[in-house]
Amino acid sequence: MTANLNILYGVSGGIAAYKSAEVVRLLRKRGAQVRVVMTEAAMQFITPLTLQALSGQPVLSQLLDADSEHAMDHIRLARWADVILIAPATADFIAKCRHGLADDLLSTLYLAATCPVYIAPAMNQAMWSKPVVQDSIQTLRAHGVQMIGPEAGEQACGEVGLGRMSEPSALVDQIYAECIDQLPCLQGLSVLISAGPTREPLDPVRYLSNRSSGKMGYALAKAALAAGAKVTLISGPVTLSAPVEIERISVETAAEMYDAVLARASSHSIYIGAAAVADYSPVTMASCKIKKNEQTLTLVLQKTRDILADVAALPSRPFTVGFAAETHALEDYASAKLIEKNLDMIAANWVGQAQGGFDSELNALHVLWREGSNGICQKQLPMTNKSLLAQHLIRLIADVFNPQLTANT
Ligand code: PMT
Repeated sequence: MTANLNILYGVSGGIAAYKSAEVVRLLRKRGAQVRVVMTEAAMQFITPLTLQALSGQPVLSQLLDADSEHAMDHIRLARWADVILIAPATADFIAKCRHGLADDLLSTLYLAATCPVYIAPAMNQAMWSKPVVQDSIQTLRAHGVQMIGPEAGEQACGEVGLGRMSEPSALVDQIYAECIDQLPCLQGLSVLISAGPTREPLDPVRYLSNRSSGKMGYALAKAALAAGAKVTLISGPVTLSAPVEIERISVETAAEMYDAVLARASSHSIYIGAAAVADYSPVTMASCKIKKNEQTLTLVLQKTRDILADVAALPSRPFTVGFAAETHALEDYASAKLIEKNLDMIAANWVGQAQGGFDSELNALHVLWREGSNGICQKQLPMTNKSLLAQHLIRLIADVFNPQLTANT
């Protein structure tokens, strides 16, 4: 898969530096913009000119180089990068990172980085097995650095063991496999999400409601935000908070949720109906507290308007994703809702079971969507916490909504 990643590629001074030419070539082939930074020692093993020709950019090495500082200072360079890859990383360079030394451009960039950092160690097998090196590796891992390799095999010095730098294709494959999922797959899109329960008042102190906590809908809102979307959240009464970047509109009843969603749906790219909206509400609300004078009490309820079906029926409709909460025949009911409500996608979950569904930290989804004129595709998103599940569902929505967009991210 290709992607327009900005990759800051650091080369430190070991014999495996000769592989850096192939790393740059493969990264460029994947569509990455590559800026190469070399340590002084790295330039003894491969010339900057080679990496400049392959990356199409001047190679940087000096922390206080007037020209390169002018082009992009080290903080801006660190911010420019989506990913930093350091390969080969020598024992000396790894120790610098572990101790926070910043005495050259590459170690300074490592310290200034806020993006994911991948390090591919390369050194003699005896050096690799030294406890002090292993301590540094463990410390950097604990700081969130991703280690790639090293591999076992014959070494340049003639010894055999663990310490060879991973092959360029393996480095590039791992970075792409791990970064693709974190890319902003909804960049430039707007997502409207409904979450939580509704409350249908019976009298001034009582209401009909359900067990929805809002966790699923709020997790989706956060995942959509992290995926680069502008997010509007129509929330029933819950105790959760949302990040300030999310526009939240609080509602109470199904009718209020209907008005809030329908007023905004056409101006959004995607609508996700994760709210547990009341299907029925009392025909009248008593103006005073209902007294317990009788042995039985009959409530007359009327059907609420179906928000999801009406969003899907708008002339200028967003990509419309419904939920289905079922206690039996999950797939049958979900596919019936997909078709009857004319949805683009439906995410079905079991409710009323031991795990998942209402007011649980966990959930699993059976997702169905249309493909072509008649076909229905499906995917199981297995039981996990709602935050991770939401990230998977958002990625799937992005893939189905705009395959071209995600193929390029
Ligand atoms: O909030 P949590 O505690 O995290 O729980 C999550 C959840 C179980 C509530 C959530 O995952 C979920 O399943 N939400 C949909 C619940 C529901 O109302 O399902 P349904 O099968 O009854 O409704 C189908 C769809 O129609 C839903 O998208 C619902 O939002 C929508 N609907 C229903 C009635 C109505 N009047 N208008 C609607 O838009």
